[in-house]
Amino acid sequence: MASTQNITAIEAALIDLRSFLGDRVSAAEAVREHHSHGESTHPPGVPDLVCFPQSTEEVGGIVKVSARYGLPVVPFGAGTSLEGHVNALRGGICIDTRQMNRILRVSVDDMDATVEAGVSRKQLQKALENTGLTFFIDPGADATLGGMAATRASGTTAVRYGTMRENVLGLTVVLADGRVIHTGTRARKSSAGYDLTRLFVGSEGTLGVITEVTLRLHAQPEAVTAAICAFETIEGAVKTVIEAIQLGVSVARIEFMDDRQVDAVNRYSQLGLLVRPTLLFEFHGVSQASVEEAAQMAESLSQEHGGLGFQWQTTLAERERLWKARHDVYYATRALRPGSNVLTTDVCVPISELAECIVATRADLDQVSFPAVMVGHVGDGNFHVQCLLGPDQMAEADTFAERLVARAQGMGGTCSGEHGVGSGKKKYLKAEHGESLEVMRSLKRALDPDNRMNPGKVLDMD
Ligand code: LAC
Ligand code: ZN
Repeated sequence: MASTQNITAIEAALIDLRSFLGDRVSAAEAVREHHSHGESTHPPGVPDLVCFPQSTEEVGGIVKVSARYGLPVVPFGAGTSLEGHVNALRGGICIDTRQMNRILRVSVDDMDATVEAGVSRKQLQKALENTGLTFFIDPGADATLGGMAATRASGTTAVRYGTMRENVLGLTVVLADGRVIHTGTRARKSSAGYDLTRLFVGSEGTLGVITEVTLRLHAQPEAVTAAICAFETIEGAVKTVIEAIQLGVSVARIEFMDDRQVDAVNRYSQLGLLVRPTLLFEFHGVSQASVEEAAQMAESLSQEHGGLGFQWQTTLAERERLWKARHDVYYATRALRPGSNVLTTDVCVPISELAECIVATRADLDQVSFPAVMVGHVGDGNFHVQCLLGPDQMAEADTFAERLVARAQGMGGTCSGEHGVGSGKKKYLKAEHGESLEVMRSLKRALDPDNRMNPGKVLDMD
């Protein structure tokens, strides 16, 4: 895609950026192309320049250059997002955070850590080995913590440990005018003023660039066990989840896959799972007895709802194989129809509405012409439909997604449980937020009056 920027402004910006970044700014075609998209098939947007800063101060310098020449700024972490968040739709300066990859501080006593934005979640987990602590938020991909904060990511463990909303204690953010602010404290609670941390968590780079994140850590559980259970029907599986949540069964993960998703996973990860609607469970506790008690409750709920028997995954190797297969579902699904476009939906509904929403969605999918699979973090009421599309099926999939979002919003739910808005879901926000959307626009105008910060994402401003 050709950039719309005035070429002289870009050349001038390049000279200014070189003065403090040296060769850590690039205008090379291949580098720009690499930074033009995430994992999704949204239309790419090629940035004019890509910077690789190593400190908050350098990010501040980059943002000041963007202000000087009126160029957009698009933050880029691991490039694993699914709603086109990183696509530089109006060209400009991409800020790749991967060289900001220092773990600045770990406090075992306070169970928190501060990291630079480009640290990945697996890097942090590795650094925490032998501390007795870990960081649990797990969107599947080895995303950066800056990107996860920016998109308010979650994933399989949110049912127990919360999303980035609950696990970010504070942030360092570079604002559109180059000012650097620190939000939050290391105290576990505060009633001192507006909660700017939560304003920036989920703001997708549209209000500022997150450069450091202070995170809540959790104790490594003493005892862990996992199980898989196939079901006669989708409804039986989902009802098991709903009752487990309502009864307070302590699950660390409770994931649903429909039969088509199981088939895809079997092929991609060489598993021999029964091709039926399936739940994957994991239980964490302070003792073997406590996890077994939770697991037994889940097992008996499953039996009541047409479960075809719990298969225990007791060894670490078995569990790792299972969760790796679960995390690879996006790729497993893509492999079902190589070369296709993938549309991934992300609705989340109140748990009491989940069975109805999933069953109605599966019935809807029986009427469309493209293949689709369902998978989800059903303990949160969140599930994904992955639609595999030929070139002439995009419009049909869009109308399917519109029906799905309307169904979820009609049940008091949301168009996005965890993937965010990017450019893909902007059209759904009016129905979800009403007048609150205007308040979001006021905040955006106050913090970014020129609309330079990741323009075209979350909100349309022009
Ligand atoms: C997952 C991603 C698609 O749940 O959110 O695998
Ligand atoms: Zn997910």
